[in-house]
Amino acid sequence: MRAFTAPRPAAYAPVPPPLRRRRGDSSLPPGPGRAVPGVTTARFLADTPGFLLELHRRHGDAVAFELRRQLFLGLFAPEMVDGVLVRHTRSFVKGVGFERMRKVLGEGLLTNEEPIHLRHRRMLQAPFHRDRLDGYAATMAEATDLELEQWQPGSTVATGPRMMALTLDIVARTLFGTDASAHSERIATSMEVAIDRIERTMLPGLDRLDRLPLPWFHAFPRAADDLAEVAEELIAGRRATPDPHADDLLGLLLALRDEDGSRLTDDEVRDEVLTLILSGHETTANVLTWALSFLAADPATREALEAEADAQSWLAEGRAPVVEEVMGTEVAGRVLSETMRLAPPVWVAPRRALEDVEVAGVTVPAGAHVLVSQYVTHRDPRWFPDPERFDPDRWLRTPERELPRGAYTPFGGGNRRCLGEHFALLESRIILLAIAHRFRMEPADAARPLPVAQPRATYRPKGAVPMRVVTRA
Ligand code: HEM
Repeated sequence: MRAFTAPRPAAYAPVPPPLRRRRGDSSLPPGPGRAVPGVTTARFLADTPGFLLELHRRHGDAVAFELRRQLFLGLFAPEMVDGVLVRHTRSFVKGVGFERMRKVLGEGLLTNEEPIHLRHRRMLQAPFHRDRLDGYAATMAEATDLELEQWQPGSTVATGPRMMALTLDIVARTLFGTDASAHSERIATSMEVAIDRIERTMLPGLDRLDRLPLPWFHAFPRAADDLAEVAEELIAGRRATPDPHADDLLGLLLALRDEDGSRLTDDEVRDEVLTLILSGHETTANVLTWALSFLAADPATREALEAEADAQSWLAEGRAPVVEEVMGTEVAGRVLSETMRLAPPVWVAPRRALEDVEVAGVTVPAGAHVLVSQYVTHRDPRWFPDPERFDPDRWLRTPERELPRGAYTPFGGGNRRCLGEHFALLESRIILLAIAHRFRMEPADAARPLPVAQPRATYRPKGAVPMRVVTRA
């Protein structure tokens, strides 16, 4: 087993030490008292999104609290979110949770920092460029067809795992030019453990527990090892049969040269491959599973989506779609926007302040932990009336461009904005429309149409989310 540590590369800016919340410090925003030590931590652990939502309701847009004697600021107003993610991005680095994510993903694009991040981001942008998407659309539709052909009308499908397998297959085919089916079970099992452990111990300082000889902790380094091996096998496979025409992501990664002619090292390629496999399928799969569940509980929207799917000539003719026709589908777009509002796969963006900085009127001291939360801000009734209601038509009444910047950020913002945003939106529309064209999905348990959330590193639905497949033909 590899060493399970994640030292910060020396090239990164040093992170100032954590702070305590000093009693009576009027420069800090309000927050919960410290009457009973450990209560805040226990509530944070029991239900982190619910805890943050409650802080916002009770104390307002900016909240100070302590976890394990370290100062945290929850910043929830749109201008604060925008301030942290976009305007003052240089004053922050990725925060708590990312150290543990680094143990799995190494120095890939999700976890790395400047100056390495910018260098890699520039190199990796090409495969995500708009003009590559048409080619991907064909592969996405083909992989979706292969999956849906296996769904028997009248049977029950484990929606969660099936969406996970499908989006993994798509990312493997489009970006790595490979069939992932040989690896998908291994990836799914190890991912489950990694995602679970990363968030469970989002509390600062619990890192050292990873070395405890308990099976629960031990499974984490094993899962990380397994994922790294899969990435290495994919790379070795490509190296063994080099394809001179391979201009997919893996081909590019292996051939990439920086402006100064330097290549990515083998470890860097592995970390980027792993990062793109993981960030490129888990999030989208969760969105789709949530969307199918919300739709099953909202017959009017489901019918509107079915009508939209039936009007798509690419679905009727069974041909590859082009990006414009997919991205022109309005009902599918609204369903996805609303799904990512209520169930944002990335529901919290933890940061750490590198220097004292003023964010939309809030003084953030160097060393403070900062939590921006899509889950909380997307539920703010000032921008989203009746916020807990799944209501795709709200996007007709108030389109995204009319919201304040920072109110709706499912893909983050600034220089750390999601690299795969357009890829994910294209893929999820294709899958959602293809399902709506063929089937009507009904919850296996009609009494409980919506799954329970299991928020971890991503906002996952708990369990397999079984749904009954009803044919529409
Ligand atoms: C609906 C699906 C997706 C959602 C909601 C989503 C959301 C996000 C968010 C919020 C971030 C920023 C995290 C932060 O600031 O802390 C992010 C980063 C990232 N995402 Fe996505 N993502 C999705 C799909 C994808 C896909 C399909 C890919 C690749 C194929 C991808 C690749 C990445 C990468 C590489 C980063 C790091 C970018 C950087 O820091 O430069 N994502 N994603």
